[in-house]
Amino acid sequence: MSFIVAIDGPSGTGKGTITKQIAKEMKLTNIDTGATYRCVALAALRKQIPLEEKQRIIDLVDTLSIDMKQEKGNLMIFLNGEDVSKEIRSKEVTSFVPQVSAIKEVRLKMVDLQRKMANGKDVIMEGRDITTYVFPKADVKIYLDATAEERAKRRYKQNKEKGIEMSYEEVKESIEKRDKADQEREMGALTIAPDAVVIDTTNLTIRQVKQKVKKIIQKKQKEIKIKERAYRERPNTKWKLWEQKVIKAFMGALYRLFYRVEIRGEENVAKEGPLIICANHINYLDAAAIVIFTKRKVRFIAKEDLYRIRPLSWLGHIFDVIPVNRGTQDIESMKKCVKALKNGEVLGIFPEGTRKGIARGGKAKTGAAYMALRTGTKVVPVGIAGSFKLFTKVIVTYGKPIDYTEYTSKSPEKETLEKVANEIMEQIIMLTNQGSSCIITKEKNNIS
Ligand code: DC
Repeated sequence: MSFIVAIDGPSGTGKGTITKQIAKEMKLTNIDTGATYRCVALAALRKQIPLEEKQRIIDLVDTLSIDMKQEKGNLMIFLNGEDVSKEIRSKEVTSFVPQVSAIKEVRLKMVDLQRKMANGKDVIMEGRDITTYVFPKADVKIYLDATAEERAKRRYKQNKEKGIEMSYEEVKESIEKRDKADQEREMGALTIAPDAVVIDTTNLTIRQVKQKVKKIIQKKQKEIKIKERAYRERPNTKWKLWEQKVIKAFMGALYRLFYRVEIRGEENVAKEGPLIICANHINYLDAAAIVIFTKRKVRFIAKEDLYRIRPLSWLGHIFDVIPVNRGTQDIESMKKCVKALKNGEVLGIFPEGTRKGIARGGKAKTGAAYMALRTGTKVVPVGIAGSFKLFTKVIVTYGKPIDYTEYTSKSPEKETLEKVANEIMEQIIMLTNQGSSCIITKEKNNIS
């Protein structure tokens, strides 16, 4: 899979310079889409095709081979094998290219070429319609902006360095003309994508802009890494089964050392076949308690973020925790849960959604109910009583399995789901209260 950084913005915002430097520093393939249009304009100028002969320009595109190579920080542009890096920046090409790039058929062919150039690579691509049209689903989308005056100043300085003769007024006029052409183009017009990060570069140096862009890219790369890590499943090797056993025994000993653990109703967990274990959620220690003290392997469903923390990520992989992207309809995660139940595994879900969700005024979430009704799996409610303060009592009570097969459906109704979710939660609360009252009574009588 390729990683796409898309950068748009009007001319003179430093897109080219920044993209080139970032490509080199972050080892990304640099694609300057403006250069592809410039190549077409150059080829048309060389063949002396006037703009009126639109079809000839369109046909010409099919005879062109455009290539880019990043060498020592410079982006070299090749047209039919010839290095045209300098020539495509000439005054003639610059004034002809807006008209050429406005031809719809030329754009379609160039967009196709640009997508092919990016295929299978990690790229940074700059232009006018990259975030909106060429790669609307790019991993990173940035819009660079600056006032027309500032952009004209920059371009004027750049031209002088390159020996291009143009007055400041001429440069500014040309920039304003190109802005207008870019924004009014029928296809691929320059606009800000709603999900793009806008950076106003007017008062920033190239270095400052580059740092900002790099930070955005690095953040995204980190997120992708965590996601990949979260969704990488570990095969069930003998070694993994051994790890599960050892960790359960070790953690079990620790729990028993630090808490006075009492397990009730263990017989309610069937020895085989699919099950959904639903418990109350006090803090992170309760999920571990269920994994440790349930005789069977329990696969918890936990938010993706868990995999940001190395040790948790390690444990998550050992116990096949199913990651879920909260705040979205995570279909992938749902499919994994259904598959696990069909395989006869045990799922662990906190219907409260978050720690102390119900106490905080939340409603029971319908995920567990959905799994139960969709797959016809029984639900074992579990009440965990205790505060997890050191050396206090923790009572884990497994309730009787609840059978919802009479409601089994491929697409359960919302009302039924809510009813079932509330019923499961009520059972959990009842079991928790049973445990709590016992802790209080015993403490009162100084028995424990
Ligand atoms: O970025 P540049 O100045 O090299 O772009 C040259 C021309 O190509 C300019 O007129 C805008 C146009 N262009 C476009 O229409 N779409 C793109 N993705 C990139 C550039």
